[in-house]
Amino acid sequence: MGEPYPKLEADGLTRVFGRAPHTVEALGPLDLTVAPGEFVCVVGPSGCGKSTLLRIAAGLLRPSAGTLLIRATTPRPAAMIFQDYGIYDWKTVRANVRFGLDVQRVPRREANARADDWLARLGLADFTHAYPATLSGGMRQRVAIARALAVEPELLLMDEPFAALDAQLRTILQDELLDLTQATRTTTLFITHSLEEALVLGDRVLVMSARPGRIIAEHRPPFPRPRTGDIRSTPEFTALKGELWELLRKEAVPA
Ligand SMILES: Nc1ncnc2c1ncn2[C@@H]1O[C@H](COP(=O)(O)OP(=O)(O)O)[C@@H](O)[C@H]1O
Ligand SMILES: [Mg+2]
Repeated sequence: MGEPYPKLEADGLTRVFGRAPHTVEALGPLDLTVAPGEFVCVVGPSGCGKSTLLRIAAGLLRPSAGTLLIRATTPRPAAMIFQDYGIYDWKTVRANVRFGLDVQRVPRREANARADDWLARLGLADFTHAYPATLSGGMRQRVAIARALAVEPELLLMDEPFAALDAQLRTILQDELLDLTQATRTTTLFITHSLEEALVLGDRVLVMSARPGRIIAEHRPPFPRPRTGDIRSTPEFTALKGELWELLRKEAVPA
């Protein structure tokens, strides 16, 4: 057995924006745990509070009520990947991937070696010295993934990281992420509005209600690991997707 306690634990987590009488109840109350090594996907309709949840987990936003706890052994346990890449255009690809390592004061030679290793794993070896502006959207998002994984985070937070990509590229990056996270066993909280994405990647899939988002359903996709993207074409996959879609549709389309 690994560590006995959840890596992340949210208890009655609630977030309200604005001041009375003009408040927006964005999130919760929401309870959530993510076990060490677990890949948890959260699916929910647009505006239900998904990014709010992730920003609280990343320490970028405070809860209005309730708690979110990360049990970490290092000072900077979490790495985050956003939908719009969040990489620096004025830094080379390698310097972007090295960024978190520089912050941790990893010596330059080692940092370069680790960055180059991740770039190779993501098929970007030929672009080490390129600037992001010269890269396609898929390549930019690979840079963001390499940067996040290079610091070997205890917790990986991903906010709809593939939403800006076309369907084909999205599938390719999902499969790459599946390989990478199954190899590293990185604890991951992954936000998406795509059920298919959640079912391919997740050990658990949590469905959120419309705003203020709460967890209304939980599923464990019954696909053994190591898993490949081939599960998308199985009847079990299609059935589970249909079942969860019924739930999500009720939330997405007001009665
Ligand atoms: N800084 C903010 N100020 C006011 N309202 C906000 C702020 N951030 C988010 N919201 C509102 O909170 C709700 C949830 O937003 P968000 O977490 O971004 O949803 P999602 O990521 O699920 O689409 C939305 O109604 C949004 O308009
Ligand atoms: Mg969002």
